[in-house]
Amino acid sequence: MTASGLGFALSKCLVERGYLVAMCDIDATTGKARARELGDQAAFFEVDITVYEELGAVFEQAWSKWGRIDFVAANAGILDSASLFPSPETCPPTTPPPKPNLKTIEVNTIAAIHSVYLARHYFSKNTAHGGTITITSSSAAFYALETAPLYTASKSAIPGLVRSLAPRLGEENIRINCICPGFVATSLTAAIQGIVPADYITPMSSIIHAFERFLDGDETGRVAEVSKDRVYLHEQTEFSDRWQKWVAENLTEVKLKAQATRQDQVRLAA
Ligand SMILES: NC(=O)c1ccc[n+]([C@@H]2O[C@H](COP(=O)([O-])OP(=O)(O)OC[C@H]3O[C@@H](n4cnc5c(N)ncnc54)[C@H](O)[C@@H]3O)[C@@H](O)[C@H]2O)c1
Repeated sequence: MTASGLGFALSKCLVERGYLVAMCDIDATTGKARARELGDQAAFFEVDITVYEELGAVFEQAWSKWGRIDFVAANAGILDSASLFPSPETCPPTTPPPKPNLKTIEVNTIAAIHSVYLARHYFSKNTAHGGTITITSSSAAFYALETAPLYTASKSAIPGLVRSLAPRLGEENIRINCICPGFVATSLTAAIQGIVPADYITPMSSIIHAFERFLDGDETGRVAEVSKDRVYLHEQTEFSDRWQKWVAENLTEVKLKAQATRQDQVRLAA
C-alpha cells in the first residue's frame, strides 16, 4: 500500500494490529519518513507501480523479507494526467492531435490489475494458501466527475474487475473487494479542499473501518461506497432482460468447464 493519505492511515492501523507492513510508493522521501514513524513493523519500498517489473520485484522483496503475504491493498491513485480537450495551440486542426497522456489509467487501473495478478501468485506460496485483496476505487465509479474523465474511467473499471474475479479467486481462498470513498482530505484533494464544506468530507476513520471490514470478514466481490460514516454496498445492476441474464449466468468458468468435459466425453465415446 502507499505511504501517504489513505495508504498511510491503513498502514498505521495494520501496524497497531500487529501486522508487518510494506509501504510501496513512488515518493521515496515521504515513504522513508513514514516508515521510520511506524517503526520496525513497517518497511518502505520505492516503486513506480506502472512498471510491472518494479512492482513484481517489490512483491518478491516483501516475500523474501517476511516469507508470507496475507493482504494486498492496491491503493495508489492520481487524478487526470492530461486533458481530453487540448487547446488549439497544442493541437493544430490540420494534423492528428498528439497522443494523450493516459498515466491515470496506468496507475489507477492497469497497476491495480497487476497487483491482483501478483498477489494471487504470492498468496499461493503462503503456507496456508490464500489471502485478501482490497482495491481503492472511488465514488467516481458511480457518479461521473465532469472535471476528471480519465479518473472516472479508471475507477469505474474496478467494480467490474472485483465482481468478475471474486468467484474464481474464491476457489483459491482469495477474497477481493473494493472500497469507493467519497471526498477525503488528503494530498490528492489538497487543491480543492478549500471549496468543499467541512461537512461534506468523509473522515479517514470511515475509510479505515471499511478496510477492516473486508480484512476481517468473509465477504468477497463486494463494492462498498464509503460516504461520511456510512457504507453502501452496491450490487451489480439488475439484468435488463432474460437474454442478458442467460449469457451472463451461463458463460461462467464452471459451466464452460463442464461443457468442455461433456464434449470431450462425447468425442471419446464416438
Ligand atoms: N482523497 C479522496 O478524496 C479519495 C476519494 C476516492 C478515492 N481515493 C483514492 O484513494 C487512493 C489513495 O489516495 P489518497 O487520497 O490517499 O491520495 P495520496 O495522494 O495521499 O495517495 C496516493 C499515493 O499514490 C502514490 N502514487 C502515485 N503514483 C504512483 C506510482 N506510479 N507508483 C507508486 N505510487 C504512486 C502517491 O505517491 C501517493 O503517495 C487513490 O487510489 C485515490 O484515487 C481518494
